Amino acid sequence: MMNKDFPKDFLWGAASAAIQIEGAYNEDGKGLSIWDIADKKRIKNGDTCHVACDHYHLYKDDVALMKEMGLKSYRFSISWPRIVPEKGKINEQGIKFYVDLVNELEAAGIEPLVTLFHWDTPVWVQKEGGWKSSKVIQYFEEYTKIVVDALSDKVKWWMTLNEPQCYIMNGYMQGVHAPFKRDYLGLNKLTLNAMLAHAKAVKIIRQFAKITPKIGIAMASGAFVPNDESNEAIEIARHKTFNEGIGLLGNGWWMDPILAGKPVKAYGIYHTSKKHLKEIQQPLDFVGVNVYQPFNNAPWGGDPNQKLVGGPKSSLGWTIDERVLYWTLRFVYDRYKLPVLVSENGVADNDVICLDGKVHDPQRSDFIHRYLGQVKRAINEEVPVIGFQYWTIMDNFEWAEGYEPRFGLIYVDFNTKRRVLKDSAHEYSKIIETNGKTIN
Ligand code: BGC
Repeated sequence: MMNKDFPKDFLWGAASAAIQIEGAYNEDGKGLSIWDIADKKRIKNGDTCHVACDHYHLYKDDVALMKEMGLKSYRFSISWPRIVPEKGKINEQGIKFYVDLVNELEAAGIEPLVTLFHWDTPVWVQKEGGWKSSKVIQYFEEYTKIVVDALSDKVKWWMTLNEPQCYIMNGYMQGVHAPFKRDYLGLNKLTLNAMLAHAKAVKIIRQFAKITPKIGIAMASGAFVPNDESNEAIEIARHKTFNEGIGLLGNGWWMDPILAGKPVKAYGIYHTSKKHLKEIQQPLDFVGVNVYQPFNNAPWGGDPNQKLVGGPKSSLGWTIDERVLYWTLRFVYDRYKLPVLVSENGVADNDVICLDGKVHDPQRSDFIHRYLGQVKRAINEEVPVIGFQYWTIMDNFEWAEGYEPRFGLIYVDFNTKRRVLKDSAHEYSKIIETNGKTIN
């Protein structure tokens, strides 16, 4: 097979989310999100997201670091409560922050990739039922319109929701993320509302964007890695990838209705109604996949017969097995025939600033090479992969895990807010500089 290069306009970048890096949780007219008011007892070490990396104040320095690293693109999310702090109110200062950020990125030659929702539901929306109430659909639509009006002269790349399966599963089923609910019976309604909100947002972006948009969604994805590469093993893994995986919620549950307009037959009849499916399946330009570990022995389920025994783990105990990235790209493309963006992929390590003042993180550099090798394999096999967003640009607030897990390319001292580029950031720069020529 011909050894193909990464495409010329490949979106090399790194990702973040508003609540995880911005801080300034109650400044300049921002409203509160469900994470801002999270009970400290629910978060490791009683950490809060209130200051985080203070990116809200330090964004210029951060963009300068991105430029130094040679990033071609940067995926970030907009804080809904910073834009709409209360029902019916628009916060111009909040809008200004993102306009300034986009301008700063533009000046640095970095393409912005905007995610509209990365889990920070405004408290006022939650008070009206949050994602359980169908009112969220209209509220999200209105918020999307405000953001599109403000940013779409410069922003081309849009993602509606980040990992609906996670914020619904973790926030409303297992009660480990805000709003810390256990509402298993609400699953159908929650799923339907998220899907319809996504669909409305897509329509708004298409209708009002000033420059022709590229629209997608970022899915918590992943795959079962086949036992071997025989056709039989691949088909078994493919089947499991769409039907099992994240507990009850395999890839199929979320992706089939949104990306293929196909009903999910296994559970209930809620979003299988023709009317809903027609609405939910809006044409998309790409699908984003957030990929971390194979489903084979993931903590949320897995298959004992396909366990990958031993092997390397991240500091969070997540299995490191790069093959998951190739199989996710392969399976998702085969099924939905859409260009695929790796919208998140990365690893948490126990990083420290060493005596020489640097952060030596060889495991992360190795991780990036390994996983990108699998992206290359997919590209070689004609899967249209359009970009790779390392998770995450800088160490940040890792939800209920607080500040301990460090996923960043940039080390953040959370006491002083000082940033240090890790060795892996320099390694990633070299990869980008050669457009991936150093990847095997
Ligand atoms: C989320 C990120 C999170 C990362 C690591 C993804 O599921 O989108 O916000 O920090 O995983 O846990």
